Amino acid sequence: MKEPHLLPIRKYGDPVLRRKTKPVAVFDDELRKTIQAMFRTMYAEPGIGLAAPQVGLSLRLAVVDVQSDGKNRPLVLINPKIEEARGGVYGMEGCLSLPGLMFNIRRAEWVRVSAINEKGMPVSLSGDGLFARCLQHELDHLDGKLVIDRVPLHRRLKALWEIRKRKKAGLW
Ligand code: NI
Repeated sequence: MKEPHLLPIRKYGDPVLRRKTKPVAVFDDELRKTIQAMFRTMYAEPGIGLAAPQVGLSLRLAVVDVQSDGKNRPLVLINPKIEEARGGVYGMEGCLSLPGLMFNIRRAEWVRVSAINEKGMPVSLSGDGLFARCLQHELDHLDGKLVIDRVPLHRRLKALWEIRKRKKAGLW
């Protein structure tokens, strides 16, 4: 058996993170393999969500796992869309593409998202709390949007300075 491989994570500054993604049109073995590799990579980091652009693929595809009651809850989001959103709440967010940085971001408190799952079946997902936050974060990635875009200018400038410092130290 071949060792399961992990995908390298693209970091802030990589143009693929800024590209608008293409809808997934083909449900084949290659897609299934990509999804599996994305889950492995996400769990290894560890993270609770990973969008395709973060592994260099400009596709409307993300995987998430916001555990509940200590149990894994892996979900595949193919061509997802926010159908409904309610409320607004601030919370701290990190991103595997901006390692070591945290941002206070306002998101809808509750969302309902439609998507297609790994079997090609339409699904509707809704929830609040960390789950809602995670869904919105990953959907942002699919539109080329990053957490750093959702904070006030002074915070963004501070983050850019932190990134420069990390790059110089070889931590980026
Ligand atoms: Ni992210």
